[in-house]
Amino acid sequence: MNRIAIGPGGQFSLGGENFVVDMSRKKDRRPSTSEAFTIVKNEAYLRFYELLASTFSPRAILELGIFQGGSYVLLDKLFNPRRMSAVEISPGPVASLLRYVAGMEDRFVHFSTSQSDRKTLEQIVRDELADELDLVVDDASHTYEQTKASFEVLFPLLRPGGIYVIEDWSWAHHPAYQSADAPFAKRYALSNLLFEQIMLMGSTSLIAEIRVWKFLYLIRKAEAAFAGFGVGQNDENGSIFDQILSRGREWSLI
Ligand SMILES: C[S@@+](CC[C@H](N)C(=O)[O-])C[C@H]1O[C@@H](n2cnc3c(N)ncnc32)[C@H](O)[C@@H]1O
Repeated sequence: MNRIAIGPGGQFSLGGENFVVDMSRKKDRRPSTSEAFTIVKNEAYLRFYELLASTFSPRAILELGIFQGGSYVLLDKLFNPRRMSAVEISPGPVASLLRYVAGMEDRFVHFSTSQSDRKTLEQIVRDELADELDLVVDDASHTYEQTKASFEVLFPLLRPGGIYVIEDWSWAHHPAYQSADAPFAKRYALSNLLFEQIMLMGSTSLIAEIRVWKFLYLIRKAEAAFAGFGVGQNDENGSIFDQILSRGREWSLI
């Protein structure tokens, strides 16, 4: 049964909190208020997380890309983890989200923090999430480089059986992104990362499953994977992707 009943204006309530879905252009979106959090997820995303929460109980969640905090509060209410943290590059802060976090145990948010800030991500997992990271939701930059940087740090720190979600991977294949003056025209496609993760899956025993929808994909870490170099850990200068076996052949990014 659906736990989220979406009203005609995109409004819904869950766990005593109110939300408004706002899919308008970034500069036109409503700010969160004390009455309702703004969330930038349409029904397909909401149903995905609702369904995931019916079968998966993460102890700790890390969200990348907070915006107005609606998704942070939604994930908290749906999954009810012991601990939760999130990073957002913009200085924020969102007053209603800060009030929400202050009223709960083991809830943290970091504004002015990039998803590619490797040191901070490591500190968050160790100090705020007690090394119990079971779920990552990346809805931040959607760029190849920064999304990859987060994955390189966080996937090795994810617990066995944990799930890593990357939203909006397919933007480079959307008709609206094909022209030279389209958003992200000079950026590498995020789908390059998905291709590399599939090669990583083929090359190692780190990844149990990759499930792809048009609007997001999830990677489930193998149960047998454990922390330590050679099973997903980066060394000082290396990357988890160094473990890809490609018969010495190179590939180029689109
Ligand atoms: C699509 S919005 C997030 C929406 C929110 N998760 C929700 O569903 O309501 C993307 C957010 O990621 C932030 N962002 C962009 N680049 C980032 C980066 N490198 N690190 C962290 N956050 C970033 C943007 O400022 C923006 O607030």
